[in-house]
Amino acid sequence: MSNPVMTGRRVCVVGERLAPTAREALPGAAMQIVAPEVLLEAGRGDRSPDLVLIDADATAPDLLVQAIEALSRLSPPPPTVLAGGHLPTNLVRALLRLERSDVLEAPFAPDALARIAARLMTAAPPSGGQSSRCWSVVSAAGGAGATTLAIEIADALSGLQKDGRRVCLVDLNLADGAASAFLGATPLMHLASSSATPERIDAAVLSAFAVQTSAGFDLLAAPRNPNAFTQITPEAVLRLLEVACQVYGAVVVDLPRIRQPWTLDVLAGSDEVCVVSELTVPALLAARALVNEIEADLDAGKQARLVVNRLASRVFGPVPSLVEAEKALQRKAAGGITSDWEAAAASVNLGGSISQHRPKSKIVQDVKRLVDRLVGATDHGQDARRGAA
Ligand SMILES: Nc1ncnc2c1ncn2[C@@H]1O[C@H](COP(=O)(O)OP(=O)(O)O)[C@@H](O)[C@H]1O
Ligand SMILES: [Mg+2]
Repeated sequence: MSNPVMTGRRVCVVGERLAPTAREALPGAAMQIVAPEVLLEAGRGDRSPDLVLIDADATAPDLLVQAIEALSRLSPPPPTVLAGGHLPTNLVRALLRLERSDVLEAPFAPDALARIAARLMTAAPPSGGQSSRCWSVVSAAGGAGATTLAIEIADALSGLQKDGRRVCLVDLNLADGAASAFLGATPLMHLASSSATPERIDAAVLSAFAVQTSAGFDLLAAPRNPNAFTQITPEAVLRLLEVACQVYGAVVVDLPRIRQPWTLDVLAGSDEVCVVSELTVPALLAARALVNEIEADLDAGKQARLVVNRLASRVFGPVPSLVEAEKALQRKAAGGITSDWEAAAASVNLGGSISQHRPKSKIVQDVKRLVDRLVGATDHGQDARRGAA
């Protein structure tokens, strides 16, 4: 099974002999077998590798020391594993200067390499590396569109990842989530079995729970289980999200509308909280109440974003406009999403995102605009704070 930590990641292997074990240990990775001299040029022009594996027995130690020193000058230096029977001290010393590095004594099994690679690749890069963003999406009223918009937000965020990291959608509607059915994917997240030992949830467990969707991002979704909310502990949910944020470039959470013991912690850990309403008076009133509740219970200053879904022209009776909706909400909406039943229905029937099956739909354009605006607002805020510091 391919591993979301490794899928599409660029792995440089120095030493032909290491290649078969590396391929077995890291399925899904884009592997390149290179001469050690290539590492001296790493990062020049080309993207630097996501992981470097070196067979220390296959090359002169001095050349390898130079290669590792070249890696240490990259920003951030890639995780590096040195494998061999007799590792010279000067080589190990050079390796230890890399923050994310390890040694493997030959002979070793593919499993041992897989474990070390997963640990190094999920470790936070030294400062200067990119941190993951977590978005939570919750409906103010059933059927307002949280699942639909969470899928399209995950899609839009996938297009923004600069370093090839994947995006993950986590469906926390643990009893009867719809994200897997919307995406035509198999729900594999058996979180109840991990609830007794949440500390054991790591990148390897996550990779067993995750499924790659045709939309291009990964999905963590639980099989239907009416007792899930009583069987799954807050510790397991929070540990799962913590690991997902380490493994993925961005995480989008489809949150249940009814508050769970872990809901506030998930919201507090989210960079963006989107409350989805539709354009009916009851939904708008519920959205106003939910936003107020969330903001009252979270740290001062943390804002929930209101997203008004299914904006339609007024041909079907007294539909409020976005401006009227904002009056009822007593706040500005972060974005409005046009109604497009054909695109929404076709995509769920075919299994996948709207952007995949109906890329020209206004829903796709509206979600992209919303995501670009919110990502831009955060980046500007961070730049301004950095400038003031
Ligand atoms: N902008 C939209 N235009 C048309 N249909 C939509 C739109 N957003 C959602 N839908 C449809 O509305 C229904 C409910 O959406 P869903 O995402 O399941 O809501 P929730 O997760 O809040 O219960 C689904 O059939 C979905 O395809
Ligand atoms: Mg839903």
